Amino acid sequence: MTEMQDRTNRVVPIGGVTASVGAGWSGFRALRVVGKTLEDEARTLCSFELVAADGGPLPEFLPGQFLTFRLEVPDPASGVMRVVTRCYSLSDRPGLDRYRISVKRVPGGVASGFLHDAVSVGGTLQALAPSGSFVLEPGEAPVVLIAGGIGITPFLSMIHTQIAIDPNREVWLFYGVRDAREQGWHDHLALLSEDCPGFRYFACHSRPGADERAGRDYHHAGRVDITLLRLSLSLRLYHFYLCGPPGFMETLTPALEAWGVPADRLHSEAFVSPPGPVSSPAPVIGAGSEAEGRWVTFRQTGKTVPWDGSVETLLECAEAHGIDAPFGCRGGICGACQTPLVQGKVEYLYNPEFTPDPGTCLPCVVRPLTDLIVAL
Ligand SMILES: Cc1cc2nc3c(=O)[nH]c(=O)nc-3n(C[C@H](O)[C@H](O)[C@H](O)COP(=O)(O)OP(=O)(O)OC[C@H]3O[C@@H](n4cnc5c(N)ncnc54)[C@H](O)[C@@H]3O)c2cc1C
Ligand code: FES
Repeated sequence: MTEMQDRTNRVVPIGGVTASVGAGWSGFRALRVVGKTLEDEARTLCSFELVAADGGPLPEFLPGQFLTFRLEVPDPASGVMRVVTRCYSLSDRPGLDRYRISVKRVPGGVASGFLHDAVSVGGTLQALAPSGSFVLEPGEAPVVLIAGGIGITPFLSMIHTQIAIDPNREVWLFYGVRDAREQGWHDHLALLSEDCPGFRYFACHSRPGADERAGRDYHHAGRVDITLLRLSLSLRLYHFYLCGPPGFMETLTPALEAWGVPADRLHSEAFVSPPGPVSSPAPVIGAGSEAEGRWVTFRQTGKTVPWDGSVETLLECAEAHGIDAPFGCRGGICGACQTPLVQGKVEYLYNPEFTPDPGTCLPCVVRPLTDLIVAL
């Protein structure tokens, strides 16, 4: 039996071969770009290979996890540097001597444009350790991976990992893009599906080009939709994984639920940016902030500290006082920081993408409205 551990040292059986997982690192770490490759004909998809700038080893991660980057990006209008936080999934399997991320250029996109245009081999990027809970369920249950465009990235990691462990596990990939020009890794995935008995691959082109041939360049002309899934899949207890831009998920998720897929077999991750630039160093919340003068008690660690306006979020407050609080995206997207709110009220800096459970809060995007007691 194989086991993997995430950065909190959770042990995850993967089945087949052994892969050990390191303990991650704390805070941002410099990663050096050692490879940069365009992956599609339209030149919108770019992969970056990364090693630790300090020459140290990179910890393992779970297939499906992502890195959170802090990028200093010049504002196109004023040229003033601003700091943005963005997540990018690890797009190759764990256990290699380097990480890989693959970035889709979004028209007008601050971070993706910067990465494509201004980051070259030899440059460095600041990243948090791998995190995220959108990971491949270990075991033998058949899985269906459904990618909307750039949502393919965590699936590349899952597929490569699964094939290294057990190429017989039934894994379906439905990969939806507009046409062959915007698709990456087609030949690679087609070869894998020929070589690996359990892997089935469907390239779905919503608007195939005039020179594209069915069977060679794509397998389905049209979007990935519930009709295609129902026609292709037999009645088995699949684990479904969905990844892509929010609009893609909003259509398919209710359709899969209506088909009877139970919630514990439906896993999804939306690729979004935090609503605003998440600044660093932490901006000072100005005098007169309602939060100032409040007290925050971290119950587990037994510390009570004043909220003095020197940090922006409860997570930063915990960190400033040496409390080891969990986090991932630091932008209200992933839910990794979710913490029980024992007493008091918090205010969200903006509406988070992740909906916290009742009685909890997301410390990365809240500040106190009253004195607080949190579970940390
Ligand atoms: C957990 C996680 C993993 C992610 N992994 C990847 C990955 O592996 N590869 C990758 O390329 N991205 C990934 N993303 C998305 C990434 O973090 C950024 O949101 C994306 O690169 C856009 O950032 P930007 O600064 O370029 O665009 P922004 O400046 O944030 O956005 C510019 C405009 O583009 C729109 N926009 C933003 N994203 C998209 C999109 N995907 N499609 C269409 N319009 C969009 C925005 O609404 C806005 O109007 C991931 C996101 C999350 C939360
Ligand atoms: S760290 Fe991702 S939601 Fe808080």
